[in-house]
Amino acid sequence: MRDVAIIGVSQTKFGELWEKSFRDLVVEAGVAAIRDANMVGDDLDAMYIGNMSGGLFVGQEHIGALIAEHSGLAPIPATRVEAACASGGLALRQAIMAVASGYYDHVMAAGVEKMTDVVDATPAIAAAADQEWEAQQGVTFPSLYAMMARRHMYEYGTTREQIAGFAVLGHKNGALNPKAQFQREISIDAVLNSTKVAEPLNLLDCSPVSDGAAAVIVVPADEAQKYTDTPVYVRASTQASDTIALHSRKSLTTIQSTVLASRKAYEIAGLKPEDMDVAEVHDCFSINGLLAIEDLGFFEKGKGGQAIEDGLIERDSDIAVNTSGGLKARGHPLGATGIAQAAEVTWQLRQEADKRQVSDVENGLTLNIGGTGGTAAVHILSINRK
Ligand code: COA
Repeated sequence: MRDVAIIGVSQTKFGELWEKSFRDLVVEAGVAAIRDANMVGDDLDAMYIGNMSGGLFVGQEHIGALIAEHSGLAPIPATRVEAACASGGLALRQAIMAVASGYYDHVMAAGVEKMTDVVDATPAIAAAADQEWEAQQGVTFPSLYAMMARRHMYEYGTTREQIAGFAVLGHKNGALNPKAQFQREISIDAVLNSTKVAEPLNLLDCSPVSDGAAAVIVVPADEAQKYTDTPVYVRASTQASDTIALHSRKSLTTIQSTVLASRKAYEIAGLKPEDMDVAEVHDCFSINGLLAIEDLGFFEKGKGGQAIEDGLIERDSDIAVNTSGGLKARGHPLGATGIAQAAEVTWQLRQEADKRQVSDVENGLTLNIGGTGGTAAVHILSINRK
């Protein structure tokens, strides 16, 4: 296998983007990533596009060909990748594997979702749950994560304030990110007093409904210096699966796919959780951010709440989590999220994260989750090739 490097990244602004169409968003992101890589479109050999549900959100399927045509890059092979909210992470993984194997040399991984065109996004999002055993019984993602939150509070004494603290952190960082959907700080009280969605989770515990796209260009590591002085090396790209339905799990407080994918990633990279300086983790609901920092091994199981309360994942701490604002504040256009996470870690590693830049960054991690953890994709990125 060949080593792989990221040489270009981009993200559109995330938010309610009425003036931009689905296809415009992904082309905008793709063109910006190609420019960032100092390439031209004709240099690309293939593209992989993460998208959860173009069909339900904008009535559009056959997304690979649509994007290849609209970007003017046809006839290059363009493949849509779907794994619910982990679609972007898996598209990135497909691109990395294609380059690592030697099948292609220059590959774009993009992600896109346009969610705000439907009146109610909830049924489309719920399609990522088990239809027979969850969605058709009226269960939605906020209620699934609410059960996980309740159980964590019961088993570990985690407080409601500690869970809310993850959303507060996201908004604090998002306030510094011009591409974030929400660029304002919030307080613990604001989270606790916001509209109830599925107890104990309130509106400000939830990631929003978002439009947006992001793109990443990957090439063989040996070629990276031809395009950029600041290549970011892919040290590991892993994926694991778990039961899609929550009730089939042994535990509601551990996302086993995260544990397995991250342990494999640390092994491949030859790095440990404590070697990570920044991490973009999947906080579709505040409790999921808390579970992530435990399941990734940054903190012991049951200690995530205290870590949040003690400020141990802030920008000036040993592990700076969700410097972009995370899904909560940057926004969560489902298929774009995994790619946007890689873009943020790349900007941090290249020292290009402006006001949210963390000092002394060498290694970073992304965790992109589908559903309640049926899929987890982990990437470890570094300024060091080995
Ligand atoms: N965080 C912060 N503010 C939010 C928000 C969120 N998640 N969602 C909406 N808002 C704001 C809106 O900007 C709007 O503010 P304004 O009045 O100043 O313009 C206000 O709250 C009402 O917005 P509205 O669109 O009417 O909210 P809603 O009640 O329809 O939707 C949620 C709120 C929480 C139900 C919706 O954001 C949601 O479903 N989130 C979860 C998405 C999800 O499940 N993703 C996949 C995870 S697996």
